[in-house]
Amino acid sequence: MGDSRRFELMGNLISKRFPPDKYNRVLDIAGGQGYLSLNLMERGYVCKLVDSRKSGYSRKIRKRHRPCTDREVRKFSHDLYYTVDIVVGMHPDQATEEILRWATLNRKPFAVCPCCVMPTSFILRDPSMSKWKWWVGYLKSIVKNTHSVDEIYLKMKGKNLVLIGVPIDKE
Ligand SMILES: C[S@@+](CC[C@H](N)C(=O)[O-])C[C@H]1O[C@@H](n2cnc3c(N)ncnc32)[C@H](O)[C@@H]1O
Repeated sequence: MGDSRRFELMGNLISKRFPPDKYNRVLDIAGGQGYLSLNLMERGYVCKLVDSRKSGYSRKIRKRHRPCTDREVRKFSHDLYYTVDIVVGMHPDQATEEILRWATLNRKPFAVCPCCVMPTSFILRDPSMSKWKWWVGYLKSIVKNTHSVDEIYLKMKGKNLVLIGVPIDKE
């Protein structure tokens, strides 16, 4: 079970770093039952949620907002096309790498809170490092040529590191 404060904390961080008047359209990848999208929507964002699970929104969300956000059931990958201002992911499991690859290809800002260590390949892993340290370094290496990245820790239990990426000017 993740810390239930994660949506509010992530919503706070996103709205502070990427205010809704400037970054209005959010792509929420692996958004599960929709709690992060709901939080962002209440702050003035328009969200598109993509998750491979069929289960849909929680009852609470369906009751409060119908429809809450646009929810697409599909496996996300970096080659999909979306017109948005920012991409986010809260504990996005296998989608983590794809979010960063998508942000790199599309030069979009991102906010990602990785959870499990789930790279597509462990071939490159340095055995002298902890899996987590290696995983975070690996994720950052995906965007190293296109984004400047900050590491922010949310005040909650469990995996709480958020990578915030801002595209580097091409000039
Ligand atoms: C640990 S849950 C987190 C859900 C939600 N963000 C939260 O914090 O409660 C991970 C979610 O990632 C989704 N997921 C994993 N890989 C995905 C992919 N490639 N594309 C879309 N969704 C994916 C799963 O269906 C699941 O809902």
